[in-house]
Amino acid sequence: RKNLVVAIDGYSSCGKSTLAKALAKKLGFIYIDSGAMYRAVTLYFLRNHIDMNNEEAVKDALQHIELNFHSRDYESHITLNGEEVSEEIRQMPVSENVSEVSAHKLVRKDMVKQQQRMGKSKNIVMDGRDIGTTVFPDAQIKFFMTADPKVRAERRFKELQSKGDTSTTLEDVFENLAHRDYADTTRAESPLTRAEDAVILDNTEITPQEQLDFAIEQVKLHF
Ligand code: C5P
Repeated sequence: RKNLVVAIDGYSSCGKSTLAKALAKKLGFIYIDSGAMYRAVTLYFLRNHIDMNNEEAVKDALQHIELNFHSRDYESHITLNGEEVSEEIRQMPVSENVSEVSAHKLVRKDMVKQQQRMGKSKNIVMDGRDIGTTVFPDAQIKFFMTADPKVRAERRFKELQSKGDTSTTLEDVFENLAHRDYADTTRAESPLTRAEDAVILDNTEITPQEQLDFAIEQVKLHF
């Protein structure tokens, strides 16, 4: 491939998007948050009460979904059929259902196709669960991120609180992360797993800046 792709995968809430945004900014690449796409699809399915067991209904729903990214200073903003949903897709109802929706074969097929199209000719940084394994197995550099589950839950809890969510407890967040990690690693369709050639990055004890410095060093080695 002629264009450059940085693939970032890993467990839930271990700072993938923080690293991806910072790297994209530093490299002048486009940042694409693949999780936001699965979240937006989930929001549509919830709003329209789509029965995940009804293949025709899922197929039909996917045909009525149009997703678009609008980048503002490397913050990814996503629209669902023209509506800005970036805030709503981070809330608990979506978080609680996204792993089930994203495990669906038809949903994955559709999203992967769109993601591959987005990374066809431009230099990109994409984060998710299957970017280095399924979406861009030929990415020039792949990271696999991880961190202690308690540390991850605390970080996400603080983030929710800072956004005014006072009803979600630390326990709720911890359970949601554990549930998503389990569902994402055990599903049949492109489960979360480390690509053999991915660089492992455990950020339990390092700062975002240290993590970025490490990643830039790695990128320099691979490009
Ligand atoms: O990255 P984020 O935590 O926002 O992703 C939400 C969920 O979307 C994940 O828990 C996973 O179920 C799903 N996902 C996926 N494949 C991706 C990105 C996200 O299955 N490439």
